[in-house]
Amino acid sequence: MQNDITSKREVNRFVADFLTKNKRTHYCGDLRSSDAGREVILMGWAQRRRDHGGVIFVDLRDRSGIVQVVFNPDAGESVHGQAHKIRSEFVLAIKGTVRIRPEGMTNPDLKTGEIEVITSELEIMNESKTPPFSFDEEETNENIRLKYRYLDLRRPALQRNLFLRSKIAAATRNYFAENGFIEVETPFLTKSTPEGARDYLVPSRISQGSFYALPQSPQIFKQLLMVSGFDRYYQIVKCFRDEDLRADRQPEFTQIDVEMSFITEEDIMQMMEGLMAAIFKKCLGREIALPLPRLTYHDAISRYGKDNPDLRFGMELTDLTEIVKNSGFKLFQEVAASGGVIKAIKAEQAAILSRKDLDGLSDFVAVYGAKGLAWAKVNAADWTSPIYKFFQPAEVEQIAKALSAKEGDIIFFVADTPHVVNDSLGNLRLHLAKKLNLIDPEALAFTWITEFPLMEYSDSEKRFVSTHHPFTSPFLEDLPKLKSDPGKVRARAYDLVLNGSEIGGGSIRIHRKDVQAQVFAALGLSDEDARTKFGFLLDALEYGAPPHGGLAFGLDRLTMIMTHAESIRDVIAFPKTQKAACLLSDAPSPVSIEQLMELSLKIVT
Ligand code: AMO
Ligand code: AMP
Repeated sequence: MQNDITSKREVNRFVADFLTKNKRTHYCGDLRSSDAGREVILMGWAQRRRDHGGVIFVDLRDRSGIVQVVFNPDAGESVHGQAHKIRSEFVLAIKGTVRIRPEGMTNPDLKTGEIEVITSELEIMNESKTPPFSFDEEETNENIRLKYRYLDLRRPALQRNLFLRSKIAAATRNYFAENGFIEVETPFLTKSTPEGARDYLVPSRISQGSFYALPQSPQIFKQLLMVSGFDRYYQIVKCFRDEDLRADRQPEFTQIDVEMSFITEEDIMQMMEGLMAAIFKKCLGREIALPLPRLTYHDAISRYGKDNPDLRFGMELTDLTEIVKNSGFKLFQEVAASGGVIKAIKAEQAAILSRKDLDGLSDFVAVYGAKGLAWAKVNAADWTSPIYKFFQPAEVEQIAKALSAKEGDIIFFVADTPHVVNDSLGNLRLHLAKKLNLIDPEALAFTWITEFPLMEYSDSEKRFVSTHHPFTSPFLEDLPKLKSDPGKVRARAYDLVLNGSEIGGGSIRIHRKDVQAQVFAALGLSDEDARTKFGFLLDALEYGAPPHGGLAFGLDRLTMIMTHAESIRDVIAFPKTQKAACLLSDAPSPVSIEQLMELSLKIVT
């Protein structure tokens, strides 16, 4: 090998020459003691170099992991001499022989820890500036990591996440291919879709003053594909939503999108359960017991306070209104009399919660609108509680019985409107489960949520709005209520929840124009509004639309759960920040005046 490199052009020639003559034989992380004696050619990055009085050790890393390579002084100037020049993240190719490490030198933390490679040839293929952070540190500031994302992605944890994500996509494609689905691409430059978030708009140069909207989902197009007779469609597809970001939301994210014809919700749920079982089996080797459990929306809210309940632990909400409505606690009396409810949750054996913790929890529930949080520590004979004095012994007993409370448990009460009570206790339940370590990180708790309300009243818009989207079919037996009591109409919609995260949602669609017109009317959408927004779908429904329905999974969220990632950004190669910015490319960024003029746009700020 040639190492007396004097110019960039020569480096390139030597590297090309080397790669023509030498092919990599193994990935670093794949070598084992059974390879001892084998001559290997490896290529990768120098993670660390250590000089041990003559002998030089380098941890050579590629996508499979790390192996220790050794440069002995007797290997000569072109190998040992050059090895002195190696710094962090230099790109190397080495030829060498695998040997078992000497007694006492094995590293049990490394898959390749029983062996090392004695180098006979070295090619430094490229140098590297000193990286802005070290790859073995987890705690580097995320903004720096995102700016140098290409370096961040060298970290094994992120590589593992992206490999698993790719496996999930492959398992998904296989499953749908085996089940007769066709993958069809749908446009990105399109019209506003009905998911209800804010659109990302793209100005048209050719039709000045007009805009495309990036799709919030392929919803309308997949329904059109059913009208066209494709029968079973899927797509792994980017969706775009300009909404407030959270730990599990990105402005562009990926859906596994599905639509089927001539089916009921049972058929879709069964097909999707099969997909989940296939994904978990192929990607994690885990069996999922089918069929998956189901909860109605009503039960989910009343028992867990949320429509995405985490069922990895108990601590259900218990309604105490009947027991306490005539108690001596005036507040509970008043709340019950004005149509509110009093509910409680029980933290089992929660002695580690100090008095200060308990008082602090009032602030926690205040965020959800609760005006207070009463608590009671259950003792052998009585309660330690600011509200104990208000209750008769019989009431204390009934409350304890309703909650199966035992000595050492702590009960938390909220009295308010049902919405505030469910919201605050539902969130407190999650908060306490984390604090008290009640969640088994390996548990997988799936549940379908069914029978969502079709629409809910929006105080800000002063009208009913779709809970899912306006093409969702109502329960036929609830149709008469569309006019009289729209909030009570149930939707043929279903979400799939895993470990407290909504990983998918869908519905049976309205396939008849007369029903669609009734729903639009109940939503306060005039014929004209509906035509401007979704006219092409309404037209299509008049040309023999089959009964159809579908669902979309959030691939990013599913991957988060399967990789135990804390942030959605850890499962996306090039994610955006909470402010929807890409720190790597610096998007969004201003554009030239010429570009704006071409579009006839003017910035007014
Ligand atoms: P929905 O709006 O419920 O349904 O979206 C489906 C799934 O996509 C995921 N998801 C997100 N993931 C990351 N970031 C986001 N901003 C984000 N928004 C949604 C969730 C969610 O369950 N067209 C319908 C589906 C249908 O009816 O078939 C739809 O888009 O996991
Ligand atoms: P007070 O008699 O006002 O001191 O209230 C007694 C207890 O009731 C305190 O621990 C308060 O935090 C609690 N409390 C106040 N408002 C509510 C409410 N809406 N729901 C539950 N507990 C409450």
